[in-house]
Amino acid sequence: MKYKPFFSFLIALFFAFTALAQGEQAEVAKEGVTAPAAGGDAALAAAGDALYKNNCASCHALDEVVVGPALRGVDKKHSETWLINWIRNSSKMVQSGDKEAVKIFNEFQKQQMPSFAMSDEEIKSILAYIKTAPAGGAGAEDKAAAPGAEGAGAGAGAASDAGKYLDLLLVILVVVLIVMVITLVIIATVLSNYLKKNRQLTAEDEEVLNQRFDIGKILKSKAVRGLALTIFVVALLNITLDKVLGVGIQQHYQPKQPIAFSHKLHAGDHKIDCNYCHTSVYKGKNANIPSANICMNCHSQIKKESAEIKKIYTAIEKNRPIEWVRIHNLPDLSYFNHSQHTKVGGVECQTCHGPIETMEVVYQYSPLTMGWCINCHRETPLNTQGNAYYDNLVKLHDSENSGKPFTVSSNGGTECSKCHY
Ligand code: HEC
Ligand code: HEC
Ligand code: HEC
Ligand code: HEC
Ligand code: HEC
Ligand code: HEC
Repeated sequence: MKYKPFFSFLIALFFAFTALAQGEQAEVAKEGVTAPAAGGDAALAAAGDALYKNNCASCHALDEVVVGPALRGVDKKHSETWLINWIRNSSKMVQSGDKEAVKIFNEFQKQQMPSFAMSDEEIKSILAYIKTAPAGGAGAEDKAAAPGAEGAGAGAGAASDAGKYLDLLLVILVVVLIVMVITLVIIATVLSNYLKKNRQLTAEDEEVLNQRFDIGKILKSKAVRGLALTIFVVALLNITLDKVLGVGIQQHYQPKQPIAFSHKLHAGDHKIDCNYCHTSVYKGKNANIPSANICMNCHSQIKKESAEIKKIYTAIEKNRPIEWVRIHNLPDLSYFNHSQHTKVGGVECQTCHGPIETMEVVYQYSPLTMGWCINCHRETPLNTQGNAYYDNLVKLHDSENSGKPFTVSSNGGTECSKCHY
């Protein structure tokens, strides 16, 4: 068994290489991620990123006041214990008379921040995220949704922040694995060529040699198993994080509708007014979806032979409404009124719904999160012209806030009770 030492050598080489490769990989990871902290902290912050976006981003941004204060640097303002207690139950702290708590509570007009039943670890991960998040990162969702800004895409970008560097890690791992395999194959080939040329081998040995190398052994080796496991765990984590980040966020939702009705064709090309079909949008809380009878105003004449139009006829014959799939849907806990915005506020449909007149199939353009509503209320000046009711309010406001416009928020448009029953 003369070749045996060579296989031992090969396996030793394999382990040496694995160790080397792992060292290399750690270095690449550090460079690639450019997180200021070491690997452990970066993972912690990534976990915190998701928790932050799901629980805090509706009220907080890192660098600007939303409903609550800007959170960057909050770890320097309060001790970690204080922060943990605050996030678990802020009102308990206010009631206990804690000076810092009472101060910030009063600064924010005694609004109550909700309590969060989170573990120490979870809260620490959020704090790690706040500490390391790049400028513009966490507030991005809110900023992107500001009126006039290109909302589409940006919200999704913020949501995939955490996923991004997990992807990077995954790619690095795969590359390292491939490099390892290639190197091993090269080594094995070189060695066996050497054996063939220089040794007198028995038939049995020859057979083993012609196998080139023992795949089974390599697959069973700890290093390969370890790597496979790592890749598997990272991939799983990635998928889970994406799922968690996606909860409750319906932006870009674009379901298939029962009839291929096109807004581009009707509202765009044929310039039919939104109000022709959505008749209650300037009058009531909800914008209605038109009944089949409205379609019939035209389609009793137009395109009668089309298969899609026949679906309208069938619905009417069977006296069954067309089952359009609802796209926009706020949770029951919130109150939104169309006429307040379209008629009173003069906000265009497109500001909230995007370029509907170019959509073949409607999708949800805006995030419809609380931060989105609040942001617009903070930034949109209220039209108070010719309304005596506002005159004194505006005067009072101007004397207190020189230069700042009288916004929806100045008029109380960010008070919880305005949007929550
Ligand atoms: C529904 C709105 C809301 C949510 C959600 C929310 N907060 Fe707050 N937060 C506030 C308000 C309002 C304040 C100001 C203090 C007050 O009025 O109670 C505040 C204050 C704070 C403070 C104190 C800041 C300072 O400068 O002293 C911290 C820290 C904080 N929040 C962290 C969080 C974290 C972390 C989350 C997510 C787990 C979160 N908040 C979720 C509304 C919210
Ligand atoms: C000819 C009739 C018609 C006109 C004109 C029209 N719509 Fe629609 N709209 C519909 C129908 C039917 C649906 C439900 C099917 C769908 O989602 O495509 C709908 C759905 C919508 C939705 C999604 C509702 C949901 O499920 O959340 C929005 C938003 C919308 N329309 C806005 C507009 C705007 C803005 C305009 C004007 C630029 C407009 N529509 C013009 C018929 C019309
Ligand atoms: C004010 C008139 C008007 C109303 C109301 C109207 N449509 Fe249309 N619709 C048109 C016109 C015009 C066309 C384009 C016909 C053509 O391409 O020759 C069209 C085309 C269509 C088509 C494409 C048909 C095909 O096979 O090319 C569908 C589907 C359709 N409409 C569905 C609806 C539905 C559903 C409603 C009711 C919610 C509706 N329309 C309301 C005027 C109208
Ligand atoms: C200030 C933002 C805003 C403006 C402006 C706005 N919408 Fe909406 N729209 C929403 C929100 C938020 C919802 C979801 C409401 C809900 O789920 O209760 C919605 C839902 C809808 C729906 C689905 C039915 C419903 O009421 O839930 C239609 C249709 C619609 N809007 C059409 C329009 C049209 C047409 C205009 C312009 C005339 C318009 N919207 C202007 C924010 C807006
Ligand atoms: C594009 C800007 C914009 C967005 C987005 C927006 N609003 Fe508004 N909202 C306004 C304006 C402007 C007014 C003031 C209308 C007026 O009274 O002149 C207003 C007023 C209101 C009011 C009445 C406030 C008061 O003082 O009486 C409520 C309630 C409200 N909005 C809820 C919401 C909710 C809920 C959302 C999110 C689903 C939302 N708004 C999103 C612009 C916006
Ligand atoms: C301009 C309207 C508006 C104001 C003002 C507002 N909210 Fe909200 N809030 C919403 C909307 C819309 C949602 C639903 C958004 C979503 O599902 O992401 C919501 C969701 C929430 C939720 C549920 C969070 C979740 O993720 O399910 C809580 C809790 C909440 N608001 C508390 C508050 C408190 C406390 C205040 C006062 C400091 C407040 N809101 C002020 C519009 C508003």
